[in-house]
Amino acid sequence: MENKFEKNICCIGAGYVGGPTMSVIASNCPELRVDVVDINEERIDAWNCNDFSKLPVFEPGLENIVKKCRGINLFFSNKVEECISKADIIFISVNTPTKKKGVGAGFASDLKWIESSARQIAKFARNHTVVVEKSTLPVKTAETIKTILNSSIESSDASLEEKNKTFSIVSNPEFLAEGTAINDLQNPDRVLIGGDDNYSINLISGIYKKWIDSHKIITTNLWSSELSKLVSNAFLAQRISSINSISALCEVTGANILEVAGAIGTDTRIGKKFLRPGPGFGGSCFKKDILNLVYLCRYYGLNEVADYWEQVVKINYWQQKRISALVIKNLFGTLSNKKLTIFGFSFKANTNDTRESPSINISKDLLQEGAKLNFYDPKVNQNQIFKDLNEREEEGNIFVYKDPYEAVKGADAVLILTEWNEFNYYNWENIYSVMRKPSWIFDSRISLEQNHLRKIGFKVWTLGTS
Ligand code: NAD
Ligand code: UGA
Repeated sequence: MENKFEKNICCIGAGYVGGPTMSVIASNCPELRVDVVDINEERIDAWNCNDFSKLPVFEPGLENIVKKCRGINLFFSNKVEECISKADIIFISVNTPTKKKGVGAGFASDLKWIESSARQIAKFARNHTVVVEKSTLPVKTAETIKTILNSSIESSDASLEEKNKTFSIVSNPEFLAEGTAINDLQNPDRVLIGGDDNYSINLISGIYKKWIDSHKIITTNLWSSELSKLVSNAFLAQRISSINSISALCEVTGANILEVAGAIGTDTRIGKKFLRPGPGFGGSCFKKDILNLVYLCRYYGLNEVADYWEQVVKINYWQQKRISALVIKNLFGTLSNKKLTIFGFSFKANTNDTRESPSINISKDLLQEGAKLNFYDPKVNQNQIFKDLNEREEEGNIFVYKDPYEAVKGADAVLILTEWNEFNYYNWENIYSVMRKPSWIFDSRISLEQNHLRKIGFKVWTLGTS
């Protein structure tokens, strides 16, 4: 059958990056065929589900794009080898978590999924293939990928067809944030493309130019592009750790963290964004990318630089710990036989992702103190909460509710751990009436109107205020 598309793209990895990114490319480039492949069959089945509300990634706007493109020029499948062999361009969007064991454990990125993708590409690609690093990677990973790809061509038993294969590598890190992924992909601040051959850089820029202004497309060498992604996340996380450290100082001095953030943020050199105090940053990337940066610095003997960045992660952990400690202190130093309700389990609002969510560590601390926990989150399902907390239903320590008003019955305290907008619209009088007294609200996201809650009768702790 004749291929009606100008070029074939294959994306390896149908996760939080691969799925939304490729959907937006397919939607803006009808002349391209986009195949998103994954080894996880359950995930692919969910991407192909007839019920669009059951896509594996929840992102505002994503459902409509998948509805428009799926089966037209956007395809999700497990046919990794077949799609690689047909592709002109291959995006690698696989996971790169922190290594759990071996050299660099706890800091370095585990590149085993990158390596296995590169080996599959080396084996199944044909003709000339542009390989795009979409995953976040340590500087110099492109060198490793190149070595793997070229070894297939240089191998003594390679066939003539294999010897005629060629590859080029481009780094094109992704800057989307979860919860706003579609908007970030449609209207990015910039697109970064690092490479060393003009054909590939122009090919990848050409895709983005279909909907993004040329002046937003930055091109650099490979290593600057790889490093800029890590540094970008490190700078963003550093701002959050900075403002969170000051939230603790506000609580003991009578200053108000929102007033301080507002006052410093109006200095255009500082800027207003990413100064929102909270229970510490979560998400799959900030911590792992900073730890990776720390590892790289130590590897190159830059120990002072490594220590500087590591502190951003340490303060983040401390912020979570101090919140659980002050909940325990305010509830008379003991949580045994107490019921606490957690509102919000995802790492931020408008996503179902719970990776590194501050709710996990804070909940674990409270469980350790003997509390029974009730959970309500608008998008996170029960199984995920049990899994993240390593709890089983029959142990009777945690309960997950679909109705927030059921989740608060008989509770001593409600903890706001994610800034879901709907919490602002709850009937807090009704909630107060069904809780045990004294009834506490611990608002780690500074979401709720504390004077209103106090008038109702609640005892209120709000982050960054005294
Ligand atoms: P994810 O875990 O949601 O998805 C990765 C997918 O890759 C998984 O479904 C996994 O099964 C699949 N996979 C792994 N090896 C494979 C192989 N050999 N063949 C086929 N499929 C394979 O991860 P994610 O959140 O999408 O992140 C992917 C990368 O993008 C990471 O490097 C991350 O740091 C980076 N990143 C993530 C975000 C984000 O918001 N999540 C934003 C920017 C960059
Ligand atoms: C972050 C970056 O913002 C993206 O640019 C990057 O592509 C992505 O990491 C990645 O590489 O994975 P993400 O983690 O999805 O995106 O979401 P953010 O909006 O950055 O929030 C991260 C965490 O910081 C959340 O827990 C959030 O609640 C917290 N946060 C964010 C604050 O506490 N205060 C703020 O002002 C902003």
